[in-house]
Amino acid sequence: MRIVITDSYEQMGMEAANIVAGQIYLKPDSVLGLATGSTPVSMYERLVAVHKTVGLDFSEVTTFNLDEYIGMSPDNPQSYHYFMQEYFFRHINIRPENVHIPDGMAKDMLAEGERYEKLIAAKGGIDLQVLGIGQNAHIGFNEPDLKFAATTHTVELDEETIQANSRFFQDASEVPRYAISMGIKTIMMAEHVILLANGRNKAKAVYKAVCGDVTPEAPASILQLHRDVVVIVDKEAAALLPEQIRGVTITRKG
Ligand code: F6R
Repeated sequence: MRIVITDSYEQMGMEAANIVAGQIYLKPDSVLGLATGSTPVSMYERLVAVHKTVGLDFSEVTTFNLDEYIGMSPDNPQSYHYFMQEYFFRHINIRPENVHIPDGMAKDMLAEGERYEKLIAAKGGIDLQVLGIGQNAHIGFNEPDLKFAATTHTVELDEETIQANSRFFQDASEVPRYAISMGIKTIMMAEHVILLANGRNKAKAVYKAVCGDVTPEAPASILQLHRDVVVIVDKEAAALLPEQIRGVTITRKG
């Protein structure tokens, strides 16, 4: 794992965007795995700016999002389909047919999971996976569990996740209880992974991901076993990392 600690949230997004942009320059037909939520917003803003100013070209890029709420139609402003259009896709030159997000409205979620996995495999797998992290150390919507879930599957969201995500809804009772998410194996099969986190409320989860035991009770801890992970965190999210780790990390000023 390489750890980059930044001075600010904006800097975190910029570091992440640089890695994504570098990936696309080196391989214009890259397959990206993408996340939603507040964390990657500054990364998307930066990528849009790079597209608009120096013409970063997304025309050959394919994307697969990590997850979607079950029962959310793509035109619902709370859906992850809507989020991705709003923050990213409508601002860049990606082809709609190259954008993939699990279908939260699918009749048969088992079949939807299989369809999604086959599609990823047919595209040759994910080159670069972008991840956020939940306060309970979930990645995608892989919640703490007794075993690591393998492939795209239905998840029952933890109460902690429902409470955390209720900030996007009028009320916690409106947050869907179920989601469809890429599994841990899907994520671990990606060639490169970047994990982003900002804010003091993510410090414990970042500690578990980087320094904790590898256990499905802290799903992000599995990333310690991946061969190419860059963890990009602002200083608040890095607050609990021990001095030995902080001493050998790359620290960037905002
Ligand atoms: C989103 C996702 C989740 C989020 C995590 C953090 O697609 O897979 O794992 O990355 O819940 O969410 P935020 O960034 O809103 O704190």
